[in-house]
Amino acid sequence: MNNKPLTLGFDVYGTLIDTQGVSAALHPMIGADAAKFLSLWREKQLEYTYRRSLMDCYENFATCTRDALIYTVKFMNCDLTPAQIQHLLAAYATLPAFQDVESSLILIRARGHKMVAFSNGGGAQVEALLHHAGIGEYFHGIVSVDEIGIFKPSPKTYQHFLAATRDNYADNDASKEAHKEQAWLISSNSFDIIGALACGMKAAWIQRCKTVVFDPWEGYSPTLTLNSIAQLPEALTPSQSR
Ligand code: 2OP
Repeated sequence: MNNKPLTLGFDVYGTLIDTQGVSAALHPMIGADAAKFLSLWREKQLEYTYRRSLMDCYENFATCTRDALIYTVKFMNCDLTPAQIQHLLAAYATLPAFQDVESSLILIRARGHKMVAFSNGGGAQVEALLHHAGIGEYFHGIVSVDEIGIFKPSPKTYQHFLAATRDNYADNDASKEAHKEQAWLISSNSFDIIGALACGMKAAWIQRCKTVVFDPWEGYSPTLTLNSIAQLPEALTPSQSR
């Protein structure tokens, strides 16, 4: 990697933003089942995005999140009122950033890299979420899959990210290749990492918990594997990530 500034696409939910943050609102409602509830909610939310992409019947991330919440309430037989469901969805719109994020974004920004939030979430929702979490100011822009109506890991989403972040509008293959060379995805979600690698981007997998296993797909390994975003500024220096 040369000294040229990189284009860094940061996944949002689960990478910058802690989706477990909603447990503070949930725990008083259902007690000990909160961890299982949250895990199923997240799993179903992502399942709905995959299924809607495959079925070509796109609805936005907020709809997938709401439908997954209603599924989880029914599956776990929780007696939540409509007001409690609304309260959980409101909490989901104001989730906190992970502890390791802000200080790293400051360092990465200081190194001159282009930093873009890249998410399944809608543009306005992601902007509000990042600003509420106190990290919105560090990003040069937001790219949302909502602009093209299909979710990650569709190749169309990474191609959209590359097109949306390419500075020069020279439409030749050389400029597209040069841009791809400098484009990274930063994500904790292995499906997202594999999707980006498959489109020729570099990818840093943030494995915050050692028990999280990367998918054993032959030919798809993260360019970098880090256990915190705090390691990213140093890991992106040219000597570290050729
Ligand atoms: C995001 O796109 C995948 O949920 C993750 O922010």
